[in-house]
Amino acid sequence: MSDSRIPGRDPSRLRSQRWFAPDDLRSFGHRSRLRQMGYAAEEAEGRPVIAILNSWSDLSQCHTHFPERVEQVKRGVWQAGGFPLEIPVLAVSEMFMKPTAMFYRNLLAMEVEEVLRSHPVDAAVLMGGCDKTVPGLLMGAISADLPAIFLPAGPMLAGRYRDQRLGSGTDVWKYWAQRQAGCLEPCVWRQLEEGIARSAGTCMTMGTASTMAAVAESLGMTLPGASTIPAVHAAHARMASGCGRRIVEMAWSDLRPSRILTAAAFENAITTDMAIAGSTNAIVHFLALAGRAGVSLSLDHFDAISRRTPVVANLRPAGEFLMEDLHDAGGLPAVLTRISHLLTLDCLTVNGRTLGENIAGAEVIDDRVIRPLSNPLSPTGGTCVLRGSLAPHGCVIKPTAAEPRLLSHTGRAVVFDSYPDMKARIDDPASGITADDVLVLRNAGPLGGPGMPEWGMLPIPKPLLEQGVRDMVRISDARMSGTSYGTCALHVAPEAAAGGPLAVVQTGDLIRLDVEARRLDLLVDESEIARRLADWQPPARRSNRGYARLYHDEVTQADHGCDFRFLERGGGPGAEAEPEIF
Ligand code: FES
Repeated sequence: MSDSRIPGRDPSRLRSQRWFAPDDLRSFGHRSRLRQMGYAAEEAEGRPVIAILNSWSDLSQCHTHFPERVEQVKRGVWQAGGFPLEIPVLAVSEMFMKPTAMFYRNLLAMEVEEVLRSHPVDAAVLMGGCDKTVPGLLMGAISADLPAIFLPAGPMLAGRYRDQRLGSGTDVWKYWAQRQAGCLEPCVWRQLEEGIARSAGTCMTMGTASTMAAVAESLGMTLPGASTIPAVHAAHARMASGCGRRIVEMAWSDLRPSRILTAAAFENAITTDMAIAGSTNAIVHFLALAGRAGVSLSLDHFDAISRRTPVVANLRPAGEFLMEDLHDAGGLPAVLTRISHLLTLDCLTVNGRTLGENIAGAEVIDDRVIRPLSNPLSPTGGTCVLRGSLAPHGCVIKPTAAEPRLLSHTGRAVVFDSYPDMKARIDDPASGITADDVLVLRNAGPLGGPGMPEWGMLPIPKPLLEQGVRDMVRISDARMSGTSYGTCALHVAPEAAAGGPLAVVQTGDLIRLDVEARRLDLLVDESEIARRLADWQPPARRSNRGYARLYHDEVTQADHGCDFRFLERGGGPGAEAEPEIF
């Protein structure tokens, strides 16, 4: 079938025609191999070729419904006159990859970019959801700059233990602390294991997956309402076929990410992130996405937006509810309606309409879940940026997930040189650690981890847990899970392994945290810090081969998004994408 008689649908303008249209030997090969795959000419040629990039594997625990969803996306593509082809990409599994899934985000992004560039593809549906798959897919698609639509995996059902609803991560940390304190029977722990993850889908607290899905929607990269639909809800299957139908139209109209991802779209998404008290991880991903899109963004933008944005979504870990409650309360369009005075409403989105058009008529159905502006969960945003002598290039903290009394605190540093060092010593009853001390973990950043693992919510020492202590000030160059909580200053930059002051903190030094003043300071004389740094030696590269070597040599610090230097783009929104080079 050819759509050449429909205005604006001239197959000769499709990128895939470079492979299939010419009457030459090479194109004979391409067409004959489509026949080999069982496709007749009228099924494939003259139609937009839609790549469905599926980040599924038998080890991608949150994407177990994707084999079914792929078929529903294909259904939509066929209905709209496209030619769908599934292309598997790296299934970055948050729960099973070591040292951390974050280490492989950039590898997924590179794979996505190259898969799209090298194949006869006109447009793509990006299927992801588990934490790093969202930024990885989007980063690659931004760099390839072909029309793309994101289909979020959707959150899993609420967890259950007896009469209690369990939230991914958040309740695990809570019950683990109880178990360490000797207040939880092993059989209860095993029952929690059975009930905490009850279906396909992503973590159903406002962790990194839920945050990044909301980011994708508020950037304009999903269909309206897509980010909160539970993974096993029938509406999710309908959203999948809807993505399939829409992407064909996007291919014909050449609606590329570079037309959607403007500076204003990023500001909308950061505002949304603050209003939902999103994961601290989002900041690293925002910086990487903006770097790909050529949008100038720094940590200071986040703090400025945080100061003016109330937290209205009452979701764990900062609040009370879970993602299916948010969906039933009206979903993200309802959240956006509530903060619409803070948004730029004329930003273009993947359905060809503006953000304002998409949320017109959206309604908040439950004020307990999406709080009114007169009664927000917090009057200012979910994440703050701190600077000071311990974090000259910045660090982040999520005050909504911390004990308020600790947000202004001075204490004695107790330093752990690495994660194994911390594990070996943290629970030692002879350590003398008190609740007023400040726990410091270093060599856990982008280079040190490597990959900046989610070690930043250092465990409370067991002797203190037994005394009832549940929060302490903790500082690291690591990240923490979006489902975590506590007074944790994270992403300290420069990290210790790159020679930041964190590298030379000594046990016994005093550290002052002052979130109101946005400061994190090592209370040691400047000349003494300089003397210690002059004696400091950088650690050796962890691996001399393969991807690990590339990662070590090219990864940027947390305040630049931890992308590879050679993949950032400085051209600004709308700048020309990489020309076809082969
Ligand atoms: Fe996949 Fe949490 S483990 S989203």
